[in-house]
Amino acid sequence: MPFRRFFDRGTKRDAPAVEDESSTDESPADEDLSDVEEESTVEDEYDGEEEAPEDAVEINWRERALAVLPTGASTGSKRVEALYGDEAAVGPTHYVSASGCHVVDSTGRSFIDCTMALGAVALGYGEPRVQQAAMEAIGSGNVAGLSDVREVEIAERLREHIPCAEMVQFLKSGAEGMSAAVRIARTFTSRDVVVGSGYFGWHDWASDSAGVPAAVRDLYHPIPFGDVTALETAARRAGDRLAAIVLEPVVEQMPSENWIQTARGLASSLGAVLIFDEMKTGFRLRAGGYQALANVTPDLAVFGKALANGFPLAAVVGHRDVMEAARRTWISSTLAGESVALAAAGAVLDYHDSDDICGMLATAGQSMRQAVGAAMEASGITGVRIEGIDPMWFLRFDDPRRETRFLELALRHGVLFKRGAYNYASLAHDEETITEIERAASAAFVELLEEEQETT
Ligand SMILES: Cc1ncc(COP(=O)(O)O)c(C=O)c1O
Repeated sequence: MPFRRFFDRGTKRDAPAVEDESSTDESPADEDLSDVEEESTVEDEYDGEEEAPEDAVEINWRERALAVLPTGASTGSKRVEALYGDEAAVGPTHYVSASGCHVVDSTGRSFIDCTMALGAVALGYGEPRVQQAAMEAIGSGNVAGLSDVREVEIAERLREHIPCAEMVQFLKSGAEGMSAAVRIARTFTSRDVVVGSGYFGWHDWASDSAGVPAAVRDLYHPIPFGDVTALETAARRAGDRLAAIVLEPVVEQMPSENWIQTARGLASSLGAVLIFDEMKTGFRLRAGGYQALANVTPDLAVFGKALANGFPLAAVVGHRDVMEAARRTWISSTLAGESVALAAAGAVLDYHDSDDICGMLATAGQSMRQAVGAAMEASGITGVRIEGIDPMWFLRFDDPRRETRFLELALRHGVLFKRGAYNYASLAHDEETITEIERAASAAFVELLEEEQETT
């Protein structure tokens, strides 16, 4: 298993020099694959350094990031205020290596990561079989003037897992995939209005952010999750202009049967397309997403995140008649069929073919939330609850300042929790790790209460 060591390394407290950029330039990807076990790695260069002080803050990386990146991080949820709810919070913002469910920050501290890259990684960071497949794809040229055979193979294999998947179009990000699905639906129906519920990424069609033209916003009607009346009203009002009903099927909780059936019924009766955004649910709740356990099949769906265990890949899938509308519009990206992410997806599919990975994720998630729940109960803290579903659960604090402080304290004890959004279970969250999570959560809750008592 050539990459076993890579996978294991995050459990150590490797200590990179805070400012030593040169050491991060080197990657096993640059090396001869056959020699990778013997060659030095980034990790080796960090060995033997001193452990960073407990509250070491990566101020320097934060400042440098803000000087060159307009928001400090290209992924919104990794901005410091998104991570901690407060720009001045004490906690890491940048990492140098990740392995299993451990992440090593730029001061050399290792944390247990409960966020798993916003759900992009379910098998574990640097998972050896995925990594091996990716390295092989790199070794055989990750892109060329023709399509990689993997594009066809992975599309064929997706059809075995995803109920609505008769045809597939690959892209790179979830937002891109969702934009493509809506474009296909608009082309198929020759209509333009979309009714939707959920988060679909940053693209114009479903965004009310600054910079989105009013004419585009007017075509999108957002409705609250689970609100059947709002869904019926919005869909009927759009009537024969309705191109698509677009749902993120699971938001904090499983949907009611009525909500999903109503969406299906309305889309069919009004001649519109039903689209499920399975970015979070695909290869997590079920390999085939929410639709694999529902009594409803959408016309189109989009998968990503866990599909390639952290490699950039999105798949727009759907019924043949609807998907064929893609021929009448233009959806294309230079690197859409790039080999590395497809190879990674192949390894992910191998996992799902041979084991009940989603069952394991649900079990690990249940243990994680029970562990944090036990810590919460033992501390006697109030004003915080655990919500969500087992494979994706979250902490809900009544007071955001308490949440920030809890996150800081949990990090001091070695665990990174997600602020205001899902913690995701992975296969790397084993029993030992979950015990550590409970210990850290327990200490953080108790210290939070002690601090509060001191100030009153
Ligand atoms: C349900 C859902 N759809 C779409 C997206 C956008 O995906 P991406 O960030 O890869 O563009 C996300 C991202 O979190 C998501 O959770």
